[in-house]
Amino acid sequence: MKELQKKAREVLNNNWKDRFSIPCANLYPFQWFWDSGLIAIGFAHFDMQKAEAEINTLLDAQWGNGFIPHIIFHTESDSYFPGPDFHCSNLHPEASKKYKSTGMTQPPVTGFVLENLYRISSDKKATLKFIETVIDKVYFNHEYFYKNRDPQDEGLIYIYHNWESGTDNSPIWDDIWKTMNSPEYTFERRDTTHVDASERPSKREYDHYLYIIEIAKENNYSDEKIAELSPFLVQDPLFNSVLIKSNESLIALYKLMGNNEDKIAQLQKWQTKSIKSFNDKLFDEELGAYIHYDLRNEKPIRYISSSSFSPWFANIPNKERAASMVKVMLDKFGGEHQYLCASFDPTSERFSPKKYWRGPVWINLNWILYNGLKQYGYNDIAERVKQDTISIIEKNGFYEYFDSRKEIHEHGNAGYGGNNFSWSAALLIDLLN
Ligand code: DGY
Repeated sequence: MKELQKKAREVLNNNWKDRFSIPCANLYPFQWFWDSGLIAIGFAHFDMQKAEAEINTLLDAQWGNGFIPHIIFHTESDSYFPGPDFHCSNLHPEASKKYKSTGMTQPPVTGFVLENLYRISSDKKATLKFIETVIDKVYFNHEYFYKNRDPQDEGLIYIYHNWESGTDNSPIWDDIWKTMNSPEYTFERRDTTHVDASERPSKREYDHYLYIIEIAKENNYSDEKIAELSPFLVQDPLFNSVLIKSNESLIALYKLMGNNEDKIAQLQKWQTKSIKSFNDKLFDEELGAYIHYDLRNEKPIRYISSSSFSPWFANIPNKERAASMVKVMLDKFGGEHQYLCASFDPTSERFSPKKYWRGPVWINLNWILYNGLKQYGYNDIAERVKQDTISIIEKNGFYEYFDSRKEIHEHGNAGYGGNNFSWSAALLIDLLN
């Protein structure tokens, strides 16, 4: 296990670029929001300075309205499409002047990342001092969401692009693509020069991805206009669980710091409202788990993915719901031939075990599920998620995602996408400590 830890540290150190980390070489040559946060958790175990620098750089790219972009383009790399030329025209008037960035965001992990840095730190006083210098920026980011991304004032935040979900080409979005009449663009993909096309989204999916951004650009990334016009507008259980967990962490940290009663009271207000709406609107009694809601077409999207179980992490379900989710996970995702946890329901005809977010196991989701299950006292299943995570990395290396079918791992490589992938290394370090 020592050897694996050593390799994980090497992956992180090799992907470190002075002030931030890339997710992996070639395929993802810039800084990504949720990658960055999760990477900091790994660094915190052996190099707190890098963990802090990672977060400082991320927050330095925050816009004037509190928004944090999903990609910060620190360099002009041409190994990625769509790069800065595509994203950065017509940016919002409050966009960062200092960094080029996209105009979409990602699951807001920063709040719970800060709490994890504090948990891991061996010098709690110094770490709390660091947290004091950045925490208000994270609060400001949450305020941005509640003020600008919740048009019906429900306490549930919308995402306007599948890239905001983090689960880019999940089958969850398939029915939304059918409602759109996206043009056929001509462009040169770069991802498929680094990774086998069978492991990546299709050309037609990319047309949809670009079309939504074109609409946002025509409207200078105005949140109001996007809420009115974007064909993709979704309340995502993973995104909202991450935000709610981060709210919980901010409350805990502000309490530790003292003297922040107003912010704590506001965060608690958001929590009460969000958790209630989340339970009222996103739990599907028949399916026994949480699902996505299509806000543009006003209908639930009734499929189960690994995102359906993320509410454990944010302490959202009551005991009965938590138990029903465990049953669904074990019945559908947890057969003896499966590693936990496939990103999409393996019993669905939409399951595709090699294709990015349409089936493979992802380490970030496993880490979220492991911690969520532990919070509810499901220690045995949590342990299985942890051991499965260690096994697939030990067998294949630090890939971006992995086949969930055990037999595939017996016949050679079953790791897909980018290799030497930062958050796979970072979160393994955390699981092993
Ligand atoms: C990609 O390029 O696949 C990224 O996930 C977008 O954020």
